[in-house]
Amino acid sequence: MNCLPRCFRAFCWTVPTLLVSVAISADPPAKPPLGLPSVPVPSDNAMTPEKITLGKQLYFDGRLSADNKVSCASCHDPAKGFSNGDRFATGVEGKKGGRSAPTVINTAYGSLQFWDGRAKTLEDQALGPIQNPIEMNLTLEAVIKKLNGIEGYKTQFKKVFGTDGATADGIAKAIAAYERTVISGNAPYDKFKAGDTKALSESAQRGMKLFFGKAHCSACHAGPNFSDNSFHNVGVGMDKKDFDKGRADISKLSGDTGAFKTPTLREIAKSGPYFHDGSAKTLEEVVDHYAKGGIPNEWLDEEIFNIKIAPAEKADLVKFMTEGFSSPDYPDHKAPELPK
Ligand code: HEC
Ligand code: HEC
Repeated sequence: MNCLPRCFRAFCWTVPTLLVSVAISADPPAKPPLGLPSVPVPSDNAMTPEKITLGKQLYFDGRLSADNKVSCASCHDPAKGFSNGDRFATGVEGKKGGRSAPTVINTAYGSLQFWDGRAKTLEDQALGPIQNPIEMNLTLEAVIKKLNGIEGYKTQFKKVFGTDGATADGIAKAIAAYERTVISGNAPYDKFKAGDTKALSESAQRGMKLFFGKAHCSACHAGPNFSDNSFHNVGVGMDKKDFDKGRADISKLSGDTGAFKTPTLREIAKSGPYFHDGSAKTLEEVVDHYAKGGIPNEWLDEEIFNIKIAPAEKADLVKFMTEGFSSPDYPDHKAPELPK
């Protein structure tokens, strides 16, 4: 293992955070929870209570889809770890995509969005699913027209953005501002790290040692959000003839073949099934996958190898993830009342 990729990973986490916090808005959110830095807020999208309220309504509103049934929350459901509990996402008319829905929790800290990092910010990301034919399937023109036909929305957009009703920019900004409130920190792991030695059970503590030591998990699940914001081939789905090329389709670098973004592990107990193709039903299956060193392939990350752990150690690792990363302050948001 040479040093470069590792340094680069640390760099990946710190630099965007620093850059964004310089450009922090006039109205930053309240103090972050234990274990997390302040949420980076772009300077042109300050978080105001009115904007967050509007964004939350849009997030939960099925009218943003062609059949009026599919909202962001259909696939990123607070009751299912802000994912959908299914192997693949189901959009309008029951259409299925080829990737699992990642959690929205703590995406505010991500420097690139999607499994393959094809969007830079939450603002860039938000309009994608609305227009995606197998997700919500509406043109921007159609969704703007629809929202402006709803009196409550028209007034709110005017109030929040000073525009004559909804605009694509306003929709993206409001949803992104809401997503920046979907945060999870202050978990038992954070409390343990801050000195509360009783915050984790003995099994979870043994799992923590493995996570940061022999099992090598923190090589990629690093930093406060347990993601290096980088892409790796960890040998998932690589036994399929027509496997998903992941990051390589965006970067056009053959070395990125089968590489996907390292997901956060916060609230991981709630957001299964796991991996970009939903191929692991449980965390036990995830750990088994890593224990054997993933599915062999020529692009496999050098940090993935047979980690030789005993069954009891596997159980400890799972315990660390389920217990350590589940916060008592889980953002258990309910659908708000929608404008008429
Ligand atoms: C039909 C299901 C579906 C709907 C509806 C949907 N999403 Fe997603 N979402 C997905 C899937 C699947 C991905 C991963 C796609 C990929 O990486 O190629 C994703 C990715 C994301 C990500 C990136 C997360 C990360 O860690 O990279 C965010 C943020 C997100 N969606 C927010 C939204 C918002 C906001 C809406 C509503 C405007 C929405 N989604 C609607 C299924 C859905
Ligand atoms: C080489 C970097 C790397 C290492 C080492 C690594 N991971 Fe991952 N992890 C990833 C990436 C990348 C993904 C997404 C892979 C995919 O879906 O193709 C992932 C996915 C996961 C998921 C699924 C998350 C979700 O939301 O679907 C869990 C859980 C997980 N890893 C836990 C672990 C544990 C436990 C270890 C140590 C045994 C570990 N990881 C080691 C990079 C890594």
